[in-house]
Amino acid sequence: ADYETILVERRDAVTLVRLNRPQALNALNSQVLGELIRAFAAYDADPAQRCLVLTGSEKAFAAGADIKEMEAKVFADMYGENYFKGWEQVTATRKPWIAAVAGYALGGGCEVAMMADFILAADTARFGQPEIKLGVMPGMGGSQRLAAAVGKAKAMEMCLTGRMIGAEEAERAGLVARVVPAAALVDEALKTAAAIAAMPPLAAIANKEAVNAAFELPLAPGINFERRLFHGLFGTEDQKEGMAAFVEKRAGNFTGR
Ligand code: HXC
Repeated sequence: ADYETILVERRDAVTLVRLNRPQALNALNSQVLGELIRAFAAYDADPAQRCLVLTGSEKAFAAGADIKEMEAKVFADMYGENYFKGWEQVTATRKPWIAAVAGYALGGGCEVAMMADFILAADTARFGQPEIKLGVMPGMGGSQRLAAAVGKAKAMEMCLTGRMIGAEEAERAGLVARVVPAAALVDEALKTAAAIAAMPPLAAIANKEAVNAAFELPLAPGINFERRLFHGLFGTEDQKEGMAAFVEKRAGNFTGR
């Protein structure tokens, strides 16, 4: 596949996707979305690929949805084309993916980072939902995912004032999994992704589905869903291999069966 606004590399079992519109601080326009949909679908469909890292540049993960693309649109355009609906194809990715964020992750940029299974942040990362300053609001899930991640007080303050938070505050608030020095961000993300890629792939999908269910289901059906997935993994060869490898004190060799 050939892309113009993103760069896609495969490093063994890890796909590295870089947003690449430096002239617009990686602002997310329809072309970026279309290319991300294709890249994520290709990743999900390729059994040799087991984790994905999405990153931007040192200066910006992404400075938002493309304001210049949206500026002239009216309600009938936005509602008529269900603008941003395509992001649901990205969040439908079944296999694990990580957002590695350095610099600005604003508006849609923050929202895309929050679509990831988790965020690794450089110490230079700045997260914000400044849409209110433009007369709008988050439109790619930000109000919902940010509130789930950091709670009402901080989410409300960020959405109502547009205040950016730095990496440390984001980690304290539970928005990011870990903060690393900016120079080490991509290497650290690739290392983390490689560790995930070495795990039994069906177990990875099941773990992801179960944690995501925590944000959709009440506790009892959530626990039931978890337990059924857990039972289901006993139908895999990788469960036999994983437990045998532990008992035999050797590394497991997982096939995704
Ligand atoms: C289109 C953008 C952009 C964006 C930056 N650029 N962000 N273009 N959409 N979201 C462009 C600028 O116009 C400029 O282009 C170039 O990128 C460099 O940006 P500068 O502003 O010159 O850089 P700097 O002075 O370093 O400031 C960085 C910044 C600022 C603080 C991140 O760019 C900024 O505030 N950007 C907008 C952030 C924002 O409001 N994001 C939310 C977007 S709305 P030129 O051609 O002039 O060089 C959104 C909505 C989601 O995401 C859902 C609801 C609709």
